[in-house]
Amino acid sequence: MRRQLARWFTVAASAVFAVGALVLPAHASSPSPSPGVVGGTRASQGEFPFMVRLSMGCGGALYTRQIVLTAAHCVDGTGSNSGITATAGAVDLQSSGAIKVRSSYVYQAPSFTGAENGNDWALIKLASPVTGSAVTTLPIAGSTAYDSGTFTIAGWGATSEGGGQQRYLQKASVPFVDDTACSSAYPGLVAGASICAGYQATGGVDTCQGDSGGPMFRRDAAGAWIQVGITSWGQGCAEAGYPGVYTQVSTYASAIAAAAARL
Ligand code: ARG
Repeated sequence: MRRQLARWFTVAASAVFAVGALVLPAHASSPSPSPGVVGGTRASQGEFPFMVRLSMGCGGALYTRQIVLTAAHCVDGTGSNSGITATAGAVDLQSSGAIKVRSSYVYQAPSFTGAENGNDWALIKLASPVTGSAVTTLPIAGSTAYDSGTFTIAGWGATSEGGGQQRYLQKASVPFVDDTACSSAYPGLVAGASICAGYQATGGVDTCQGDSGGPMFRRDAAGAWIQVGITSWGQGCAEAGYPGVYTQVSTYASAIAAAAARL
């Protein structure tokens, strides 16, 4: 079974943009509108102002204006690191209004050994805070109170299994899948570390390669966005029978907060 964890690097993403332009006639002949994530639609500018694209080919969310929460499998370890560029404040990665900031430090969850084993979270400290009204932070869920219902997923990753990275942020809604049902798809699922979502019976809507590290979120009781998951892994993308697996943020909320306070 293929559980794809591959990252998409900047070089690959740039190549995809270039190739996309070159093969425009093929896209133009496609009968369906541009899907997104998988089975999604394009997000509007300012809709999710906490979304960040990371240059190694992952997503993330602004935990503070200077700290991005992403997936552990998107980074190489803990330590000083100026090699990551975060792009924020724009759904169009090529927008002149996009804010680009370099990383200064990476903190990878200490017990991370592989996405399927849990602990798939990391923090990236930026060299300077991102400023302005085009960006906001996304609070994380500190309890399991919001670990059910309908979630929003978003990212610049592939819009089909094996597909290319996207220039424009894509979004979709997916229902919660409980641990029992998710474990039927993935027998080794570490339930306490994971929150699953998707249309398990039919597939069709899911995150995909390059969306990793991005947030899964919903509205809280006050109507504000709150992060409940971090895009982590799945078998293929949007396949019937196989939901997406997300890091259960509520499980790690206190560890995330403690680590962020030390960055
Ligand atoms: N691990 C992938 C990445 O690095 C994300 C996979 C999500 N897969 C899924 N079926 N939901 O981008």
